[in-house]
Amino acid sequence: MNIALIGSGGREHALCRKLMVSKKINNVFCIPGNAGTAKIATNLNINFLNFKLLLKNLKYHKIRLVVVGPEEPLVKGIVNFLEKNEIKVFGPSKFAAQLEGSKSFMKLICKKYNIPTANFKICKNEKEFKNSINKFNLPIVVKADGLAAGKGVVICKTKKKAFKISKQIFKGKFKSSNKVVLEEFLEGEEASYFLVVDKNNFIQFGTAQDHKKVFEKEKGPNTGGMGAYSPAPIIDNRLEKKIITRIVRPTLQALRDKKEFYRGFLYVGLMIKNKDPYLIEYNVRMGDPECQVIMPRLKTDLLKVINYSLKNKLKKLKLAWEKNKCMTIVLCSKGYPGNYKNGKVIKIKSIKDNKNLFIIHAGTIFNNEEIVSNGGRVLNIVSKGQDYNQIRKKIIKLIKKINWKDGFYRKDIGWRVIKRL
Ligand code: AMP
Ligand code: GLY
Repeated sequence: MNIALIGSGGREHALCRKLMVSKKINNVFCIPGNAGTAKIATNLNINFLNFKLLLKNLKYHKIRLVVVGPEEPLVKGIVNFLEKNEIKVFGPSKFAAQLEGSKSFMKLICKKYNIPTANFKICKNEKEFKNSINKFNLPIVVKADGLAAGKGVVICKTKKKAFKISKQIFKGKFKSSNKVVLEEFLEGEEASYFLVVDKNNFIQFGTAQDHKKVFEKEKGPNTGGMGAYSPAPIIDNRLEKKIITRIVRPTLQALRDKKEFYRGFLYVGLMIKNKDPYLIEYNVRMGDPECQVIMPRLKTDLLKVINYSLKNKLKKLKLAWEKNKCMTIVLCSKGYPGNYKNGKVIKIKSIKDNKNLFIIHAGTIFNNEEIVSNGGRVLNIVSKGQDYNQIRKKIIKLIKKINWKDGFYRKDIGWRVIKRL
């Protein structure tokens, strides 16, 4: 069968690589894909947010199943649209995607179902903001309600800054947000927990930790993620039970109570404090770069996982995982997450991938047979092994072979887990 994969990042190259090993798949059409997916599948350069154009192309290429990588099309209702047009699609409905698409939607569920999360106040205008801010200690977390491409959360050390940020949000800095969510600052260690969900059940889909800050020692502004590793040892069986009973089950029940349900990957973003989990955010998709370290550890056919979810049979599925650990370091364009230049040539053709050390593309495209940069996060160097320290050494050795002077990366990915060993 032919399937389509929506998106163009490292997450999508990692998903594509995994889907391509499934015997039941003839071809994967990556919409729009990157230079990495172009090598193993077929890229279609169309705007996936133009749902009608997308549908026309899906029909033309006889595509019966669509897997959605990023959140924006999900929040905009791609699943409802494709299902109405009789194309199977793996991802949550527009309603369920609000778990990521609206922080106030998610927080109100937490309140109603007693899900542990930071104390919060939803403010619809500046007056409400002024009346609420004094109820919080500093630092205070100011969030845009809607999608903001990772730029909608600011941890403010002063009230002055909180006023400034919220003013920008009310003025429409992020088109998707006219509300501000004020939150108590939670201290602890962040970890990510993944699930695949169907109408009635869910299955655990791995753990990971990423590094959001751009510079070493967790300094500088937030990024989409500079590196990640899986599994995350902080999530042990005890903690996992708490995550499921206190957070996952009540959330899925909340959707059912509204006569809705969740299907797809679900990413639970957590703060762990004194061995207790607090929900920071939901993402209605795989993480990026977390996907790049979870997929290589999965032994089960990914298409099988997706089909079981689509048929609401996840209860019957037992996943097989490699014992290996996996890490990725992201190679970025100089200037990211601020301004950077695209179109820089990257020479990696002489580098041969192997099972335990390989390159996953993110912001890359082909230009006259050459691979050039096309985004802030450009390449993910991924490696598997028994020991995080050794894995990181292998990755850095390979990065040094990459002839790209306009890139930078963090050498301390995994410091928490390496220090703990
Ligand atoms: P979000 O988009 O909600 O994931 O927020 C982005 C990042 O901001 C998170 O990964 C955390 O590092 C940080 N963050 C968000 N909310 C809080 C909070 N209440 N307390 C501490 N850090 C937070
Ligand atoms: N790495 C964080 C995210 O995918 O949202």
